[in-house]
Amino acid sequence: MTKALYIKTYGCQMNVYDSARMIDVLAPLGYAPVEDPDGADLVILNTCHIREKAAEKVYSELGRLRDLRGARKRTGGPDMTIAVAGCVAQAEGKEMLRRAPHVDLVFGPQTYHRLPELLAQVHRARAGGGNAPGRGVLDTEFPVESKFDHLPEAVASQGPSAFLSIQEGCDKFCTFCVVPYTRGAEFSRPVGEVIAEAERLAAAGAREITLLGQNVNAYHGAPPPNSAGARPWGLGRLIRRLAEIEGLDRLRYTTSHPRDMDDELIAVHGQVEKLMPYLHLPVQSGSDRILEAMNRRHSADDYRRAVERLRRARPGIALSSDFIVGFPGETDSDFAETLRLITDIGFAQAYSFKYSARPGTPAGTLSAQVPEAVKVERLASLQSLLDAQQEGFNQGSVGQGMPVLLERPGRKTGQLVGRSPYMQAVHVAAPANYLGQIVNVRIAATGPKSLSGRLIEDPVVGRSEASGTMAVEVHP
Ligand code: SAH
Ligand code: SF4
Ligand code: F3S
Repeated sequence: MTKALYIKTYGCQMNVYDSARMIDVLAPLGYAPVEDPDGADLVILNTCHIREKAAEKVYSELGRLRDLRGARKRTGGPDMTIAVAGCVAQAEGKEMLRRAPHVDLVFGPQTYHRLPELLAQVHRARAGGGNAPGRGVLDTEFPVESKFDHLPEAVASQGPSAFLSIQEGCDKFCTFCVVPYTRGAEFSRPVGEVIAEAERLAAAGAREITLLGQNVNAYHGAPPPNSAGARPWGLGRLIRRLAEIEGLDRLRYTTSHPRDMDDELIAVHGQVEKLMPYLHLPVQSGSDRILEAMNRRHSADDYRRAVERLRRARPGIALSSDFIVGFPGETDSDFAETLRLITDIGFAQAYSFKYSARPGTPAGTLSAQVPEAVKVERLASLQSLLDAQQEGFNQGSVGQGMPVLLERPGRKTGQLVGRSPYMQAVHVAAPANYLGQIVNVRIAATGPKSLSGRLIEDPVVGRSEASGTMAVEVHP
């Protein structure tokens, strides 16, 4: 009998990828994904710990699930297993079982390949004492074995645009960030494994693959068995190889660190046409003093130079970034430096956040915390500058023709939504069977967050693909 699995995903694309893999792990046990927790036998919240707000959301969702399970019990309905995965699970572990005793299972980002065994433990615990609070099962180990060696082949359909994790964890230890603690040490998957997964995704209908990693451009994967030489491959070389896969038309990668933009990778931007002319390259701040306090280990001018090299290699490349305002000790003049950097570079898109003190991170305990009111004010002025740049960039697209990968139905009937090479969302009137295809679109107008246009040609390549079932709440 099939059992209903509801996964709600918070945080970054790596969590989105992990959720798809959890579907793969659970499929042999008879679980099939559903879009609603109401009838679910198993609910998994795949959580994010990056900022306080993200982490707190989980507890309100857990409260709702407890009520839902209670109501079901009163009406004699089937039981529900409640599990928490991801970075809050990893960071809080036992504390989470104490704070939310109705949770049955807490497991981290590196142990979800053990889900079948963990669920068996939950069911045994239940047989031994019902749903007694505090009987939750916990697995937040960083196992020596890699989960990738134990996961089944990736099959859960991600639709025309798919994620592929090639690198995990982080050794950079920026002083504000929880990721090195929640995801563990940096690890690159071997090249052969990445190629095989990319080929499977392409065969299942993916036209675009985004290579994922917390520091994806630090990738150094063991070479494939038949390759000349034993030196690890960098990201640039991997992209050249993936570009040879038939049926795959677009490649992207995220998230990158400015320090790891090496010459080969920059050259690949100029030489591999399938690599899209858009790069998310977080800089966080434009002040050298703050960059140093953040342990970013690069200056604002290093960032400017990296962008210059990229633009020389691939003229017209669009840039996106992440910014933090109100890092401890940030003064008005530090903040002015950030605005100056933004003005110098010109971003097509960006994410910006108020600094959020995180438990266990070096910056969390610094005494010079910036008052909330100052953070609010700085965030507003930063965002108005970034919004104006984004609007300018989108305006520049009006009248242009560009290839758009149609990914999902739009809100209006007869409308599909896709992405331009520059990651802009584009609305187009097109028949539903164009989903999953790349079409040429003439951009007619821009809205605050998206563009709209009309087809100027029939799709060049014909193929359609259904999209996956997952509830996603991706940051910011
Ligand atoms: N690995 C990526 C980003 C990881 S987290 C990188 O190195 O850039 C995504 C973004 O969240 C970061 O770029 C940063 O801008 C933001 N962020 C991380 N920790 C934060 C904190 N404590 N408060 C506010 N924003 C934070
Ligand atoms: Fe966090 Fe810095 Fe690592 Fe990015 S590079 S994940 S911001 S510690
Ligand atoms: Fe959040 Fe973990 Fe990703 S903290 S941003 S889900 S790595």
